[in-house]
Amino acid sequence: MTLDTRSLTRRVFLLSGAALGAGILAGCTSTPPQDSSSAAPTNSAPNPAETTADGIRAQGDRYGIGQYNTQQVADELVWIDENVQPLKGGQQKRVLITGSTAGAGQLASAYLLKRGHTVVAHARNEQRAADARRDLPGLEDVVIGDLLDLDQTKALAEQINALGDFDAIIQNAGEYGLPDRELLNSNSLSPYLLTALVPPPQQLIYLSSDLHLGGSLKLNEVRSGDGIGYGDSKLHMAMIATAAARVWPGRRVNAVAPGWIPTLMGFHNGNISTPDSLRGGYMTQVWLAEGVEPGSGVTGGFLFHQQLDTRVNQLVHDSQAQEQLLAAYAERTGVPFPA
Ligand SMILES: NC(=O)c1ccc[n+]([C@@H]2O[C@H](COP(=O)([O-])OP(=O)(O)OC[C@H]3O[C@@H](n4cnc5c(N)ncnc54)[C@H](OP(=O)(O)O)[C@@H]3O)[C@@H](O)[C@H]2O)c1
Repeated sequence: MTLDTRSLTRRVFLLSGAALGAGILAGCTSTPPQDSSSAAPTNSAPNPAETTADGIRAQGDRYGIGQYNTQQVADELVWIDENVQPLKGGQQKRVLITGSTAGAGQLASAYLLKRGHTVVAHARNEQRAADARRDLPGLEDVVIGDLLDLDQTKALAEQINALGDFDAIIQNAGEYGLPDRELLNSNSLSPYLLTALVPPPQQLIYLSSDLHLGGSLKLNEVRSGDGIGYGDSKLHMAMIATAAARVWPGRRVNAVAPGWIPTLMGFHNGNISTPDSLRGGYMTQVWLAEGVEPGSGVTGGFLFHQQLDTRVNQLVHDSQAQEQLLAAYAERTGVPFPA
């Protein structure tokens, strides 16, 4: 598999003069360690906490190395725990992150928690919710729903709405390597439903991928439920973001490509190394959600490492194509996109 195959020649331009997350990292107490994007697993995670939820015990060791996380993600969670300091100035936010039980979503959740923000996590089932409560101490709550099942996604939207207003929602959850019908539900229709059924917060962030470049609209497949490929789904994620940014000019809505990073998804199909920075893979979401650093007030953008990316599928900024996709979503789900 080649997930996000970026190189140093990547064409980007700075949103601001601010260095990458300089202000955010300045809040840390020590110099961050070398990124371990391609490092072999080394040391072990911290001791597991004896957390249970709804009678279900968290599984395995803390951070679930080899089970739902890589050693690199576990090491980064330890680094966050030991180094990240609260955001000063009382600018804390209330943030919901889908797919916060592993990988980039869990890292963004852990970072935002250490910064003093209020975080609501999302898990696919009760077992993964119990794991998240153990791995992410301090969560306000965990909402539950499997995005492969559209009825569960609708019920998830109701759970989210029952919790009241959020400042930011990060639609991070994503599947890889599943049959096309399942990818359509989890990576395209469910993010649409959560966008359409939950009142928009000030800040919305959608996890896309460089692989969106090879994606297509696939309107017939969306309408019929026949299914789409991963690249198509990541194009759709980016188009939901740019459509929402256009329809809701008062909100800040962006798509983010995290790069090819060493989460379990990054090592799918037996890859043994990943080229991009794990920290860079979640810091853009943190930076946007906090919205305090120069440049983080952007909207309608496709970003990589806090910079606008110029390598974007032309459909992403095509209003007519966005409208066609929203219409296909409405036809498939019966849920119109709110103006
Ligand atoms: N890793 C990369 O190199 C890469 C590159 C480009 C884009 N991305 C995108 O970045 C995002 C985060 O990926 P990652 O690398 O952090 O992957 P990951 O480690 O596999 O984590 C994915 C997260 O989404 C959750 N999730 C997946 N399917 C779900 C479903 N049907 N219902 C509820 N939750 C679900 C997972 O829950 P479980 O833990 O229960 O499975 C997990 O919390 C994804 O949208 C992915 O497509 C990743």
